Amino acid sequence: MLKQDNIHPIFDRTLSLKDKEAFLNQTAKVIWLTGLSGSGKSTIAIELEKRLHQKGILTQLLDGDNIRSGINNNLGFSDADRLENIRRIAEVSKLFLNCGIVTINSFVSPTNDVRDLARLIIGEENYYEIYIKASVEACEKRDVKGLYVKARRGEIKDFTGISAPFDEPNKCQLIVDTELLSIQESVEEILKNILPIINYQVEKK
Ligand code: ADX
Repeated sequence: MLKQDNIHPIFDRTLSLKDKEAFLNQTAKVIWLTGLSGSGKSTIAIELEKRLHQKGILTQLLDGDNIRSGINNNLGFSDADRLENIRRIAEVSKLFLNCGIVTINSFVSPTNDVRDLARLIIGEENYYEIYIKASVEACEKRDVKGLYVKARRGEIKDFTGISAPFDEPNKCQLIVDTELLSIQESVEEILKNILPIINYQVEKK
């Protein structure tokens, strides 16, 4: 751990979030998608970002596999590494948030502990959690990336839903069940709920 004694943050002297939001004419939020691998998070996040972009909203998408190829490429899937993964992502999200940007995060974020950490870092008022719900059975049947087969064979250890836990979210604001809804319907449901909180006005674009 680095010694913090000689660190003097300048948070109180920088432009405020309100200044950036006024510039962009939108309200910044972190839209956090949690769910099993294969539940549909990434596909929904990509489509959601496109739809928001078309409406003139400035967004940033952060996705598990992308982030784990870059800033978090030194982390694995132990409990400690997953916590560190989410801690860094939450800190990065906060930077985007402070630019006034609507950030869409797509991470398994498997436990209520890691989600609580994200909520704490980002701030309750700026964090909107959506559970992209699909059972292990459904995700395993889809097995888009072929990971469930490998996990069952024991070729991937600590695999969420198979050999590592996934807690049902206990504080999420919205549940989108991808066994019941199509991708398009899921995105519509999310838009219906988030457009009012990001202060989208029809006349903007
Ligand atoms: S998290 O648990 O730390 O939030 P994250 O969302 O970053 O996970 O990464 C999950 C992605 O990594 C999955 O979509 C999958 O493609 C891949 N992956 C590889 N190994 C594992 C594993 N053991 N458990 C879960 N996902 C894994």
